[in-house]
Amino acid sequence: MKKRSSFGGSIGFVLAAAGSAVGLGNIWRFPYLAAKDGGGLFLILYLILALTFGYSLLTSEIAIGRKTKESPLTAYKELHPRFGWVGILACMIPMIIMPYYTAIGGWVLKYFMTFITGSGMEAAEDGYFTGYITSVSEPITMGIIFLFLCTIIVLGGVNKGIERASKFIMPVLIVLVLIIAIFSLTLSNKTDAGVRTGLQGLSILFIPDFSGLTIGKFFTTLMDAMGQLFFSLSIAMGIMVAYGSYVSDDTNLGKSINEIEIFDTLVAVLAGVMIVPAVYVFMGRDGLSSSGPGLMFISLPKVFAQMGFTGQIIGAMFFAMVLFAALTSAVSIMEAVVSSFHDYFHLKRRHATIIETIIALVFCVIVCLGYNKFYFEIKLPNGSTAQILDIMDYFSNYILMPIVAIATCILVGHIVTPKYVIDEVEKNGSKFGRKRLFTVMIKYVAPVLLFILFLQAFAFKSK
Ligand code: PHE
Repeated sequence: MKKRSSFGGSIGFVLAAAGSAVGLGNIWRFPYLAAKDGGGLFLILYLILALTFGYSLLTSEIAIGRKTKESPLTAYKELHPRFGWVGILACMIPMIIMPYYTAIGGWVLKYFMTFITGSGMEAAEDGYFTGYITSVSEPITMGIIFLFLCTIIVLGGVNKGIERASKFIMPVLIVLVLIIAIFSLTLSNKTDAGVRTGLQGLSILFIPDFSGLTIGKFFTTLMDAMGQLFFSLSIAMGIMVAYGSYVSDDTNLGKSINEIEIFDTLVAVLAGVMIVPAVYVFMGRDGLSSSGPGLMFISLPKVFAQMGFTGQIIGAMFFAMVLFAALTSAVSIMEAVVSSFHDYFHLKRRHATIIETIIALVFCVIVCLGYNKFYFEIKLPNGSTAQILDIMDYFSNYILMPIVAIATCILVGHIVTPKYVIDEVEKNGSKFGRKRLFTVMIKYVAPVLLFILFLQAFAFKSK
C-alpha cells in the first residue's frame, strides 16, 4: 500500500486547518458585517449557523478526506463514480483562488514592510493604495515573494512544512490579535460631538440592534452570516478534504472539528474587537461602512496615523498578523492543488508544487496587471463592478463553491448516506456529538440554504 503523509498529531491538524480557516475573511469582512448587520444579531446567527450548518459541512469534508485518503480531485470519484466532476471543480476552485490571494498577500506584505520601516504615515495619505496597486512592477514583485513563501512551506511537506509552520504561526497570531484587541479597547478620542471611546465601539459589535428590523433585513443578515461562515471555514475549496486525508485514523475527529470552529470564530470575533472600536473612535460610525481592501488598506492606515507613534507600532503588528493569517490560508489552497496533482498524475510533491507555483505565478501577474496594463471593468450579475481579481473571486466564491457544497450535501446526504460520515468519525470509538442534527442538516437544510446563497450571486444589489 502506498504511504501517505500525515500530520504528526491532532494539534498539528487543528492548527493547520485553523490556519486555513483564519484568513483575510475573518479580518476584513467579519467585523464589517457584524457592525452593518445589527451587532449581536449577526453574531447570534453566525454562532447558530457555525454549530449546525458549518459543522455539518466541515465534518463531511474532513471525513471524506480521512476515509478515502485521497485528494479533492480524486476523492469524490471514489465515493461515487458519477461525482468525479465535483472533484474536478473542487480542485479548480483553489487553482482560481491561489493567484489572486497571492496578489493580495503581496499587498499585505507591502503594507507590513511600509510600517516596519517606519513609513506607515505615508500609507495614510489619500490615494496611496490606488497609487500602489496601479503601479506595475512592485505589486508583482511582492506577490511573487509571497507566493515563494508559500512554495517553501508546501515543499517542506505536510509534516515538516505545513504542520511546523502552523504550530509556530498560529500561536503568534493569537498573541498579536489579543494585544491589538486590548489596545483598541483603551482608545478614546475627543470630537466636536463628544468623546468617543473604545467601549462604545464595542457595543456596536456585541449589543443586538433590533431597531428597524424587518423580515428583509433579517434575511440579509442571515445570508451575510451564512456566506461569511461558508468562506471562513474554507469549505468547498477542496482544502478540508486534502487536510482530512492527512489525519491519522486514531484522531478524534469530532473534538478536532469543534476546536477548528472555535479557533476560527474566536479570531473573527477578536478581529471585530480589534477593528470596530478603533475605527469607531477615530472615524465614527461612517468609518465602519467599508469592508475588504477599502477597510484594510485605506481606513485602517488612517486610523493608525491618528494614534501617532504608537499607531505605527500597532500598525506593524497588525500587518504582521494579517500576513500570517493570509500565509497559512494560501498554503492550504496550494496544498489542495498539490495533493490533487500528486494523487491524480502520480507526481512527486516537489514537481507538483513547482507546477502549481508556475501556474499561480503566471495568473498572479495577470491579476496585478488587471489594475494597469490590462485594466478593464465589467458589471457582474450581482451589480458590482469588477476587474480581473473580482471576476475570479466572483466565479470561484459565488458560482463554483456553492455548486460543490450542494453536490457534497447530495452525495453525503442521499447517495453514500450520512452513515458514511458518522461511521468514519466514530470508527475509533470517538463520539459524534450531534448525529441527528447532522443528518437533517446535510440531507435537507444545508442544500436548501446553499441554493438560496447561490441565487444571491444573481441578486442585483443597487449599492
Ligand atoms: N477561510 C479563509 C478566510 O477567511 C478563506 C480562504 C482560505 C480563502 C483559504 C482562500 C484560501 O479568509
